Amino acid sequence: MAKKYFIETFGCQMNELDSEKIAGNLQNAGMEPARDAAGADVIILNTCSVREKAVQKVYGRLGEIKGWKTSRQDLIIGVAGCMAQLEGNRLLKKAPFVDVLAGPQKGHVMSSLVARAQETRTPAVDLRMDDDPEPLETSFVLRESRWRAGITISEGCDRNCSFCVVPFTRGRQRDRESGNIIREAADLAGQGYIELVLLGQTVNAYRDPSPAGLTFAGLLRNLASVPGLSRIRFTAPHPNYFDDELLDVVASCPQVCNHVHLPVQSGSDRILRAMRRGYTRKKYLETVHKIRRSGRAIAVSTDIIVGFPGETAADFGDTLHLLDEVQYDCVFSFKYSPRPGTAALMLSDDVTHEEKGERLMRLQEQQKLIQFNKNAAFLGQRVEVLAEGGARANYRLSGRMSNNRIVNFDGPDSLLGSIVSVEVTGFSPNSLKGAWIG
Ligand code: 5AD
Repeated sequence: MAKKYFIETFGCQMNELDSEKIAGNLQNAGMEPARDAAGADVIILNTCSVREKAVQKVYGRLGEIKGWKTSRQDLIIGVAGCMAQLEGNRLLKKAPFVDVLAGPQKGHVMSSLVARAQETRTPAVDLRMDDDPEPLETSFVLRESRWRAGITISEGCDRNCSFCVVPFTRGRQRDRESGNIIREAADLAGQGYIELVLLGQTVNAYRDPSPAGLTFAGLLRNLASVPGLSRIRFTAPHPNYFDDELLDVVASCPQVCNHVHLPVQSGSDRILRAMRRGYTRKKYLETVHKIRRSGRAIAVSTDIIVGFPGETAADFGDTLHLLDEVQYDCVFSFKYSPRPGTAALMLSDDVTHEEKGERLMRLQEQQKLIQFNKNAAFLGQRVEVLAEGGARANYRLSGRMSNNRIVNFDGPDSLLGSIVSVEVTGFSPNSLKGAWIG
């Protein structure tokens, strides 16, 4: 009987795609998906390490499944992804029952690692080294969705933000050849996919290694002309590479979604410098204003870290003020979490845990009001959403507008995977409610 696998994904969209690559590899090796972890012969936790909490969550989960091995001696437990890379042998010391330890981008060797662990009954470890980069092409990705697909365009990051552990877990930036990306996109469109999400740690720092030498904007423009692709998203761009060419593509290609996620991290120049973000508040705002003046209604969202070492009440005030000034459509905010190996670890983390919590709450309260007001403007409008499952708030369907707003509505399952018209009948800070216009 075929062995069954179950993958639990923690963290970002890139991890979700990596899990689909792992699933493709295990499936190619003759394994089948289990309905849940309890019914699996192989459990893979695909992990995140961006904040300490993400790491704790995985240790917590490992604690839960550890005991399953007493009654199921053949059970293989694997830890993949950024936390595996970062923790390395420390993880095997803390959790000696783990059979497979694999860094990010190990999808293509996962089945052989599993087989090796099964045979030798000792942990199979494969942690990528920078001098041995992984291939960026994937032979088979077993996708969760039939209408939205992530595509890797680059891996790793060459920036050195002082808070961020990702360069240590995913390594330096490597880019895929534009021809291969465009071919994969066309292939997906041929299979009926209508929405693509281009993924890279610093996605707009993309440098085409092929003779075509496309810029990120050029790549985006090429993808926008692939027949059948209605929506193209990309995440996450760095403000410094958001040039006029890119702005022009976003403003002029209707296939490119009218949403830009532009992580700012802080509104204070002092803190931005300490974070080594490479821009000032003024420079960032100039980019936002260009986006807002582009002639297309482009939603802007961001990431913010509160309580970075040395952040004073005045610095935090600058961030609150920035939120008022930009009027973001959505904000993801986090308490600073010291990460191993990062430059910020050398700074004394002088903002107390309580203060961090308080700042986070204040920021979220303020942003809630902004989003409430922004969403109110959609009331009565007719909007287009890509219908997906995931019933919420008593509605059967939910979907996203091109500008990334979530709309909950009722309708038949036959709508799933297509772009439908909905009239907005209600709103909250985080989503809209609507009625399907049949
Ligand atoms: N502490 C808190 N948040 C962090 N992020 C990255 N590193 C840290 C850290 N050490 C946040 C940033 C980033 C998002 C993905 O996670 O806001 O944009």
